[in-house]
Amino acid sequence: MKPDQAHRFCIAPMMEWTDRHCRFFHRLMTRRARLYTEMVTTGAVLHGERERLIGFDPFEHPLALQLGGADPRALAQSARIAEDFGYGEVNLNVGCPSDRVQEGRFGACLMAEPDHVGECVAAMKAQVKVPVTVKCRIGIDAQDPEEALETFAAAVERAGVDALVVHARKAWLKGLSPRENREVPPLDYARVYRLKAAHPRLTVVLNGGVASLADAAAHLAFVDGVMLGRAAYQEPWRLIEVDPLMFGARAPFADGSEVAAALIPYIERELARGTRLSAITRHMLGLFRGVPGARAFRRHLASEAVKPGADAAVLVEALALVGKRASEPVAA
Ligand SMILES: Cc1cc2nc3c(=O)[nH]c(=O)nc-3n(C[C@H](O)[C@H](O)[C@H](O)COP(=O)(O)O)c2cc1C
Repeated sequence: MKPDQAHRFCIAPMMEWTDRHCRFFHRLMTRRARLYTEMVTTGAVLHGERERLIGFDPFEHPLALQLGGADPRALAQSARIAEDFGYGEVNLNVGCPSDRVQEGRFGACLMAEPDHVGECVAAMKAQVKVPVTVKCRIGIDAQDPEEALETFAAAVERAGVDALVVHARKAWLKGLSPRENREVPPLDYARVYRLKAAHPRLTVVLNGGVASLADAAAHLAFVDGVMLGRAAYQEPWRLIEVDPLMFGARAPFADGSEVAAALIPYIERELARGTRLSAITRHMLGLFRGVPGARAFRRHLASEAVKPGADAAVLVEALALVGKRASEPVAA
């Protein structure tokens, strides 16, 4: 795979959502998409219960650990730990606007400190062989995205960043919740296209509001890769088409029922380790969105998977409630 092919289709880091169970489930549907963990702070990586916080199944590869932090030494040490754990990429979060993150002076507020982010990237690059990437916004608050994103990208490119993921809207650090900051500031895809045109050697991945694989494919005329967040999580059935449509490869499964059936051995393994069924099935609620019986499937999982002792039979029962998607994706 050419280096820029590696980021052609990515699934976004999402706190509380893209945990290891979610990623395993997504990986069943697409063998090629690049997956990202939830953000983990350097403090947690360095001092926390590591296996629980950053452990993963090798089946999840290609997989990136997203770090939150702003101290070059702590980031470099965390990157080293991530590489030793087997991650194939380390990504730095420069997009999260939450108050907690702002108090720690990392996340989106780092858009105001491009040279410092450059130092962080250089420090991480010096410690690891795997790609070091950054996920940012087009600007924050009163910044002019034309200038702010250019200065930021130039700084991280000089530091040797391997790819820059750009959420194509500003973050407004005062007055908006993190959720509003994913919806209210307007999207500006053209700004991201211009960034790629101005930095032909920088791998640029576009993120934000991409609702379908057709939209993703259209963006690929202008950038190296596309990252889907909510659309991938809320309608995971779309992922069955990623390998055929984005990579010209066979789809691993023909439909959602096959995917769910393939997850059962994983569920049994996890239940034996003490995982609750709902911790896994909560990521599957949108698998049949748009299909007759989708609501019954969702309701059955939501009410039954949380009960003590719930096992894979609950998923089998839920699957019996769904019909077929009218335009089922076809394997290439
Ligand atoms: C529930 C949730 C949690 C998120 N957590 C993170 C995170 O940990 N790190 C990060 O960089 N972005 C995070 N984001 C932002 C997404 O990665 C992405 O940039 C954003 O949702 C826009 O993409 P989308 O429109 O395709 O969802 C989160 C988004 C959601 C919905």
